[in-house]
Amino acid sequence: KSILLLNGPNLNLLGTREPHIYGHTTLSDVEANCAAVAAQHNCTFDAFQSNHEGALVDRIQAARGRVDGIIINPGAYTHTSVAIRDALLGVGIPFIELHVSNVHAREPWRHHSYFSDKAAGIIVGLGIYGYKVAVEHVAVNFKELEK
Ligand code: DQA
Repeated sequence: KSILLLNGPNLNLLGTREPHIYGHTTLSDVEANCAAVAAQHNCTFDAFQSNHEGALVDRIQAARGRVDGIIINPGAYTHTSVAIRDALLGVGIPFIELHVSNVHAREPWRHHSYFSDKAAGIIVGLGIYGYKVAVEHVAVNFKELEK
């Protein structure tokens, strides 16, 4: 199986950004841990972070027909991006929506997501441990694409 991890704006600052909310682990550590978990399950793994909406749309389009499952933390685009939602639906790749923090315990405008109603599952508020859970879930439970 092939797994793609996507992180949106400001998640490149993971580990240094508001550590009381997002913790002290860096994105490169998170990506390396996810790659190791994927490898344990004999899955291929790729990770991409961008602060740009269009770059995330391009990466999702490029995954069409090649990736069995996407794990996406859209960052602030969670609450704004019809374009990223449409890209995920357009390529038809099942995805898990992930948030490091518990968005439902934060500002009311973080409670709405453009992704949740279409996600295969949602992981919220487990800190960076959520990424590991997401990779394991895709590796074990998602179906393989017919290639
Ligand atoms: C986030 C929550 C979003 O509301 C916020 O804009 C982020 C990170 C999270 O992982 O908790 O950038 O997606």
